[in-house]
Amino acid sequence: MGKVSSGIFGQFGKPRGPLGVLVGWILANRPSNLERNRRTIALLDLKDGERVLEIGCGPGVGLAMILKAGANVSCTGLDHSALMIRMARRRNRDDVRTGRAHLVIGGFDKLGYAGAGFHKAMMINVSQFLTERIAAFRALREAMAHGGRIAVTYQPRTLGATEEAGRIEADKVAGDLSDAGFISLRLERIPLKPVAAYCVLAEAV
Ligand SMILES: C[S@@+](CC[C@H](N)C(=O)[O-])C[C@H]1O[C@@H](n2cnc3c(N)ncnc32)[C@H](O)[C@@H]1O
Repeated sequence: MGKVSSGIFGQFGKPRGPLGVLVGWILANRPSNLERNRRTIALLDLKDGERVLEIGCGPGVGLAMILKAGANVSCTGLDHSALMIRMARRRNRDDVRTGRAHLVIGGFDKLGYAGAGFHKAMMINVSQFLTERIAAFRALREAMAHGGRIAVTYQPRTLGATEEAGRIEADKVAGDLSDAGFISLRLERIPLKPVAAYCVLAEAV
């Protein structure tokens, strides 16, 4: 693997600097990424007036789709990359201005700033970067309304990735969500190119 490509792969966990801008552009334009967001949001089954949290919102394409998905839906995006939050803020500037979109720089330790009582939450290609995942999922559950739905989607995107790798990660995510107190777990396969994604859905109690 060349220096530039390995540098880019290393960026997806926390984009920064000029290569980070390129990563933000890829996240906002690659068809598989857009479709992964679209399909995950459909699985959230948004209702009018709901409050949605996205962890690892990247450049904010998912947030923009959420805001279009239902009347009076509002959203909060959390990302530990200041660059991604800047891009997400620019992409959703009108909704940030009216208060429908709220953006927070940070990780799970900043959930307190994001608010509480979220009806829906999503995380797309973020779970693979988390350390202390059960504790992170527990904090997330506490930020959600009783009966709220979470969707955690993963599509392997490294060179030579296989669907099997995605399925293994999804099974681990399901186990960790269950250990963190989520119930009613369900697995959905999302057919995508070059390999399928898997979305784990669960309910917060
Ligand atoms: C591969 S990108 C996916 C972005 C977006 N979810 C999408 O699908 O377009 C992963 C994003 O998660 C963010 N991220 C990774 N670990 C995080 C953590 N512990 N807390 C907050 N953000 C995190 C990264 O900064 C990056 O923007």
